[in-house]
Amino acid sequence: MDALPDTPCYLNGEFLRLSEAKVSVLDRGFIFGDGVYEVVPVYGRRLFRFQEHMARLERSLQKVRIPNPYDEMGWLDRIRQLVADHADRHDAEDQLVYVQVTRGVAPRDHVMPVGLTPTVFMMTSTMKPATAEQRHHGVACVTARDFRWERGDIKSISLLGNVLARQISADQGAAETILFRDGFLTEGSASNVWIVHEDAVLGPPKSEHLLEGIRYELLAELCEELGIGFNLRPISEAEVYAADEILLSSATKEVLPVTRLDGEPVGHGAGKGKPGPVYARLYEAYQRAKTEQSI
Ligand code: PDD
Repeated sequence: MDALPDTPCYLNGEFLRLSEAKVSVLDRGFIFGDGVYEVVPVYGRRLFRFQEHMARLERSLQKVRIPNPYDEMGWLDRIRQLVADHADRHDAEDQLVYVQVTRGVAPRDHVMPVGLTPTVFMMTSTMKPATAEQRHHGVACVTARDFRWERGDIKSISLLGNVLARQISADQGAAETILFRDGFLTEGSASNVWIVHEDAVLGPPKSEHLLEGIRYELLAELCEELGIGFNLRPISEAEVYAADEILLSSATKEVLPVTRLDGEPVGHGAGKGKPGPVYARLYEAYQRAKTEQSI
C-alpha cells in the first residue's frame, strides 16, 4: 500500500492536515455510509464546472434529506482556501477536490435523527491525469452485470457496489468495468460510458440507475459546438460491442477512449483497437473548455 498522504483538508470549520483530522466512530458516514460526496477538478487553481458540481451536491443532499451546510459562496470560499494551501505547499496547480457531507454523529439507529449537525469533510490532492500511453493507445475495459442498488442517481458515499464492480476490472488489469442492467448500458464503476455510432455520441438516458455525471451536460455542449450528433437513449449490450468508438467520462478521466472490451479490439476497419476521431475532437474541445470555463 502507498503511504498515507498528509495533504490539506477541511473538517467541520477547521483547516487541518489529513493526519490531524478525526471523526467520531458514531458518525453515520462511518456506520451506515449515510452521506453524499462530490469530486471537483481544479485546473490552474481554478474550479472546473463548479456550479454544476454544487447543484448536483444540492440534489444529492435533498434526495437523502441532509440539509446543505453552506450556500454556494460558502463552499467556494472554503474550497478555494484549501486549493490555494495545497498549491502553495506542493506546487500543484491542477488538483482534485473531494467534498463529503454525512448526516452527522448520533447513536446507531437506522431512523434519521432530527436536528443533527452534518459532518463536512473536504480534502484535495494533486491531479493524476490519464497517462500519455492511455491517451495514445486507449484503455481496456471489461463488462459485468450491474448488481448495484437502484439509486445510482444519488452520489452516495455508500460505494461498496461500485468497489466490487471496479475490482472485477482491476483483477483483469483493465481500467474500468462497464455495467449492464437488463441488457442495457448503465455506466462504469466510477465513470459514465458513451458509444459512437454513425458519427454521433450516444449515452444512456438519465435515470435512477446511473449517476448523471457533470460531463453529461459538458459533452452535450462540446458535441453541439463541434457539430457532432448527441443523443441519450437506451443502448443495448450488442450496440456497445458493435460501437465505432467507446468513451469513458469522469472528473478524473475527462474523456478517455476504450480500445479493448472484454479482450476484443473496439471499432472497425483501419481504426480498430485505436482511439477514434470523435474521441480526438472531444478531447481537444475539452481542453479548451478547461481553460475557458474554470473559475
Ligand atoms: N466518479 N458514474 C459514477 C458511478 C461515478 O462515480 C462518476 C464519478 C461518474 C462521472 O461523474 P462526473 O463526470 O461528475 O465525474 C459517473 C468520481 C470521479 C469518483 O467517485 O471519484
